[in-house]
Amino acid sequence: KGKSKTVWVCSDCGYDDGQWWGICKQCNGVNTMKRFSEGVEHFTSGFEVLENVTRSWLPHQSVRAMPTKLTDVNKGINQSNWRIPLSGLFGAEVGRVLGGGLVPGCLVLIGGDPGVGKSTLLLQIAAIVAEGCDMGGPAPVLYVSGEESIEQIGNRADRMRIGTDELFLYASTDVEDILEKTQTLSLRALVIDSIQTVYLRGVTGSAGGLSQVKECTEVLLRFAKKTNIPVFLIGHVTKSGEIAGPRVLEHIVDVVLYMEGEKCSSHRLLRSVKNRFGSTDELGVFEMSQSGLQAVSNPSEMFLSEQQSDSEFLAGLAVTVIMDGSRAFLIEIQALCVAGSSVSRQVNGVQAGRAEMIISVLIKQAGLKLQENGVFLNVVSGVSLSETAGDLAVAAAICSSFLEFPLPVGIAFIGEIGLGGEIRTVPRMDKRINTVVKLGYKKCIIPKSAETSLSALDLGDTEIVACRNLKEMINIVF
Ligand code: TYD
Ligand code: MG
Repeated sequence: KGKSKTVWVCSDCGYDDGQWWGICKQCNGVNTMKRFSEGVEHFTSGFEVLENVTRSWLPHQSVRAMPTKLTDVNKGINQSNWRIPLSGLFGAEVGRVLGGGLVPGCLVLIGGDPGVGKSTLLLQIAAIVAEGCDMGGPAPVLYVSGEESIEQIGNRADRMRIGTDELFLYASTDVEDILEKTQTLSLRALVIDSIQTVYLRGVTGSAGGLSQVKECTEVLLRFAKKTNIPVFLIGHVTKSGEIAGPRVLEHIVDVVLYMEGEKCSSHRLLRSVKNRFGSTDELGVFEMSQSGLQAVSNPSEMFLSEQQSDSEFLAGLAVTVIMDGSRAFLIEIQALCVAGSSVSRQVNGVQAGRAEMIISVLIKQAGLKLQENGVFLNVVSGVSLSETAGDLAVAAAICSSFLEFPLPVGIAFIGEIGLGGEIRTVPRMDKRINTVVKLGYKKCIIPKSAETSLSALDLGDTEIVACRNLKEMINIVF
C-alpha cells in the first residue's frame, strides 16, 4: 500500500499537482482538480495501471527482446501474408484506403461526424472480415458497442442483410471486460464503437475525457501488437473538427481514416490521413443506400448524375479544392451576376476584399463588363474560403454566370489570381490534383507554373489543363 499523501488530479486531462488550483494548469479546465489521497499508482496515468491490466488478460511477456538484424527481420516477413485482403467491391474499396488490405495487429482509428455512417461502415467491414472469403474461410470478429444495444446492432445488420455466423456482438464499455472476452474467441478482428464510450478501471476521469481516451487507446494498441489482431476504433469528431480526446490519439494509432459526407447527399468519402503501412493519398468513395454502404467504382458518374439532376443551377457554379491540414476538400462556389441590380456586391464565405480584387481583374484583364452588374458570391454549404487557391474557381463562377454559360460537368479549378490576371500556383498542388483525379473529375484547370508538380502523379482519366492567365482560361473553358 502506497504512502497516504494528498495529490490533486485533473479529472479531464490527468494533470496532477501537490496543490489545489481552481483552474487546471495543463488543460485550463475549471474546477476539475479532484483530491486524491490514495497510493500514487491509482491515478498517475502511468504504467503501473497499464501493466496490471495487460497482465490480467495477456500471457506472460516473453524475455526482453534484443536488437535484430534488418535482414533477419525481413526474412521473417512473408511478403504475401503481410496484408489481409478484403473481398468484394466494398472490401476492395476499403482495402485500398487502408493501403492494400488489413495489416495484422494494426490499430485503425475511424473518425467522423455523428451520423455520417461509421457504425454502418464498421459493421460491414466486420462482416466481410468474419466471412473471410479471401482469408481461408470464416473466423470470429467481435463488434463491441458502448453506444447501442446488441438488439439495435442486430436490427441494423438485418436491414443490411448481414447474416454472418462468425460475427459476435457485445455491448460493453469496460476495456478490461472486453479484452477478457476476446480470449475465449480467438478473434480475427476487434471493433470498438466508440473509443469515447469505453473506460479503464483505475484511470481517473470520465469516459470520453482526455486521459481515459488516451489510456484506453494505449491498452488497445498493446493488445493489437501482442495478439496480432487488428483493432478498429471509432472516434467521434468534435465541433472543431478533431477526433474528440484529441490529436494524441492520432499519434498513438497506426492508421487514421476520416469518413466524410454532406447531410443532404448519400455519398460518403473515406480518407486516409495517417498510415504507418501505406500512402495517405487514398480516397474511398461510397454511397449510403437502404442496405448499407456501397462502393462507387466510377466516381465520375456520381458527379454527373448529381449535377445533371439540378441542371438549372449549373451556370455560375465552379468547383475548387481547399486544404484543411493535410486533407483536401472539394468545395463549390456559386456566383450570380445581375445586370442593373441595386446591390453592387454581396459575398458569403469569400473575403470581400479578395472578391473585389478578382472582379476588378476580370474587368480590367479579361474585359468582362461587370461594372454594370450586381455580383453575388456564395460558398456552398457554408464553408469559408480562406485560401487563394479558390481564386480561379471564383473567377470561373463569375464568368459562367455573366456569360450565362454553364460550366461543363466534372471540371475543377485550382489557382491563385494575380493583379495582372496571371494564374499562380498554390501550395500542395499534388495533393489537390490527386483528390480531383481520385474523384473522377474529367478536367482540372491549374496554373502553368504548377505543371512540374505533376510528374509523380497518376492522373487516371483526368485531363489537366495548364493556363498562364485568365484570358487563356476563359478561351479554353467558355
Ligand atoms: P451510423 O452508422 O449510425 O452513423 P455513425 O455511427 O457515424 O453515427 O449511420 C447513420 C445514418 O446512416 C443514419 O442516419 C441512417 C443511415 N443508414 C442508411 O441510410 N442505410 C443503412 O443501411 C444504415 C445502416 C444506415
Ligand atoms: Mg455510431
